[in-house]
Amino acid sequence: MRVLFQLPALLASLALFQSAEYATNAQPARAAAVAYTVSQAKVQVNKAFLDSRTRLKMALSSEAPSTRHLSQYLKHAKGWTRMAIRLGQVWEEVLKRLRHSMSLANVNITDPSLDLASLCREVGCGSVPAVVQCHQKSPYRTITGDCNNRRNPALGAANRALARWLPAEYEDGLSLPFGWTPGKTRNGFPLPLAREVSNQVVSYLSEEGVLDQNRSLLFMQWGQIVDHDMDFAPDTELGSSEYSKAQCEERCLQGGNCFPIMLPPQDPKVKTQGKCMPFFRAGFVCPTPPYQSLAREQINALTSFLDASFVYGSEPSLAHRLRNLSSPLGLMAINQDISDHGLPYLPFDTKKPSPCEFINTTAHVPCFLAGDSRASEHILLATSHTLFLREHNRLAGQLKKLNPQWDGEKLYQEARKILGAFVQIITFRDYLPIVLGEEMRKWIPPYQGYNESVDPRISNVFTFALRFGHLEVPSSVSRLDENYQPWGPEPELPLHTLFFNTWRMVTDGGIDPLVRGLLAKRSKLMSQNKMMTGELRNKLFQPTHKIHGFDLAAINIQRTRDHGQPGYNSWRGFCDLSQPRTKEELGAVLENPGLAEKLLELYGTPANIDIWTGGIAEPLVSGGRVGSLLACLLGKQFQQTRDGDRFWWENPGVFTEEQRNSLKKVSFSRLVCDNTHITKVPRDAFQANTYPQDFVDCSAIDELDLSPWVSVEN
Ligand code: HEM
Ligand SMILES: *[C@@H]1O[C@H](CO)[C@@H](O)[C@H](O)[C@H]1NC(C)=O
Ligand SMILES: *[C@@H]1O[C@H](CO)[C@@H](O)[C@H](O)[C@H]1NC(C)=O
Ligand SMILES: *[C@@H]1O[C@H](CO)[C@@H](O)[C@H](O)[C@H]1NC(C)=O
Ligand SMILES: *[C@@H]1O[C@H](CO)[C@@H](O)[C@H](O)[C@H]1NC(C)=O
Ligand SMILES: *[C@@H]1O[C@H](CO)[C@@H](O)[C@H](O)[C@H]1NC(C)=O
Repeated sequence: MRVLFQLPALLASLALFQSAEYATNAQPARAAAVAYTVSQAKVQVNKAFLDSRTRLKMALSSEAPSTRHLSQYLKHAKGWTRMAIRLGQVWEEVLKRLRHSMSLANVNITDPSLDLASLCREVGCGSVPAVVQCHQKSPYRTITGDCNNRRNPALGAANRALARWLPAEYEDGLSLPFGWTPGKTRNGFPLPLAREVSNQVVSYLSEEGVLDQNRSLLFMQWGQIVDHDMDFAPDTELGSSEYSKAQCEERCLQGGNCFPIMLPPQDPKVKTQGKCMPFFRAGFVCPTPPYQSLAREQINALTSFLDASFVYGSEPSLAHRLRNLSSPLGLMAINQDISDHGLPYLPFDTKKPSPCEFINTTAHVPCFLAGDSRASEHILLATSHTLFLREHNRLAGQLKKLNPQWDGEKLYQEARKILGAFVQIITFRDYLPIVLGEEMRKWIPPYQGYNESVDPRISNVFTFALRFGHLEVPSSVSRLDENYQPWGPEPELPLHTLFFNTWRMVTDGGIDPLVRGLLAKRSKLMSQNKMMTGELRNKLFQPTHKIHGFDLAAINIQRTRDHGQPGYNSWRGFCDLSQPRTKEELGAVLENPGLAEKLLELYGTPANIDIWTGGIAEPLVSGGRVGSLLACLLGKQFQQTRDGDRFWWENPGVFTEEQRNSLKKVSFSRLVCDNTHITKVPRDAFQANTYPQDFVDCSAIDELDLSPWVSVEN
């Protein structure tokens, strides 16, 4: 008690004595006071993290399943990620406490007398993620993405801050999101509620005519796979266990890292769900030298590289757990309990409780374990993960036949390397050209080789730009039989019944009927008057009708503010595009005066339009499926992802010329032929295809010729 009482005064007096003669005497006492503050903050934050994990476990095992528990499970940080964001939280708490003590002495936090480097050391910021030993000659990527860039080995590594292409914009300049303090304005206007924007701009009623006449459902699904290869910003905890999650969730009290999405009073959800949808802020990391800014920086839990990390994991402990190390065949571990007509499933995540189990307590099928923790979020995503798992094991088996002398490690790494190239090729050859349309060549010119000066890190804004895919998700998922006709008694299921749903796959036909749906059904077309399906906008994580659904559009908008994203016009400027100031100008940019008017009624000024909202509101570029602003943000990121990757598949020395020529023939259709019982596939799996005219026998699809992998040395 006495110490606590004295601390602020002690710090204040120390801060005052900064003149040279006192400095030497003051230093040790000051250090002790700082150490004390740090240890107090650690105790508080550690307790909060522990409490919260215990509560989530209890909630998942005892209570009836609820939307917020599913959402928390999805955004849960594990392993090194959790350690890194806990330290970020300690760091912020320490600053808060020091700022408080120092303000008593009229000294501000940017005062040069405060040694940020030693404060960072005291907090332990440098200890996570662990330093990886780089092997200069290794022909393989590390699991964490470290060592790719030789000048700065951490560039693109997992569990580091997302990159900022424009400085963060917070209400207080440091961490509070815009929209936090009632009455506070941005550029002179109050921000609209995220849910209000969703209701007014994003919603639509009839699903009629919403499908894309020229893109298969795989087009939507590939986007999510790519996203889950590149970025994941899980939630942090509240920071203090005094302020409980119940207060956030049930009473909608904003505070700490709780930033509830308030419902407009006339919203129909008010009657059933109360005043808000709970929302927790994203995890962030300690600042990195040279400490130019102390603004909050969100974490990327994954490697930035397009490297099939969703198959293999972004942390060594997970990567290890995913492998089959009981035989020297280089295989990934497969499900030991069940199989899909002789073909393997992903292993179950044995950690209890499992949300997939509790959405149907009769079926009792747990979630799957994969390289990305979101694998079971919906059934088509889990289906895709399954294809990749099988392909790895198929490749390892083929390589073993060609090179009986290779050990398990060599087989694993070579198969992993091929699968990484596969993801890069499909993304750049097949996917991006039909996303960016005519703008493809402008942003992603032909490959000119690896450039060590290109920053491969995922940018914060990209994690919003890529969410354009949420507008391509259709309201239902169809299963099809061998003749591409409706499968079984319930061929078509509403999307919301398939969140965390593994039993529909495991007890109900395996992945083949779902894969056929990906190939022969269509994506939703993103359109200015039909943006996001009600399945995502009102029923997110509502797998049973008993519980409440969330709104993914409102979450995306709230998240842009959580991440301190600059507004629409700042990003238009960043991309050298015009910055509309008036209703007329915005109407011209959007080619839609009505939409411009709606947006301005909500936001007051185009400058305040949240980047996710503004990005998706623009008319599509010719031949593509995004507007000009998103084309720029996505294009820039993918160009950097390619050119800043030392292990890019076309970078000379990564593969031999013969191997590259083999790899050029890979296709998604072949992946399906090789890893399911499906025998009829389309030639171009991303285009809208109709059975039977657009389908051919698997024998007509090129196979991957692995003969260039026969090794000459022993
Ligand atoms: C049924 C399909 C989908 C569902 C249910 C879904 C759901 C979600 C949810 C709940 C989040 C977390 C939101 C937050 O808390 O901020 C999220 C994030 C995200 N989604 Fe989706 N999504 C789907 C499809 C897609 C598609 C097709 C794409 C891309 C083409 C995509 C791209 C992203 C991206 C980039 C993020 C941010 C990830 C991060 O960095 O943390 N999603 N999605
Ligand atoms: C804090 O101090 C620094 C340097 O001492 C000064 O440049 C800055 O303007 C101050 N900031 C505030 C908010 O007082
Ligand atoms: C459909 O998309 C393909 C690219 O996948 C394009 O070549 C073709 O012209 C498009 N067809 C129509 C009718 O828009
Ligand atoms: C590991 O591989 C062996 C040999 O193929 C197989 O029998 C075993 O089931 C596999 N174990 C796992 C966990 O995948
Ligand atoms: C649970 O799964 C079983 C199949 O194991 C199915 O028959 C039943 O209809 C499912 N229940 C619900 C509520 O979805
Ligand atoms: C490499 O990238 C840097 C940074 O983008 C750029 O300035 C430079 O011109 C590039 N070098 C080559 C050879 O393309």
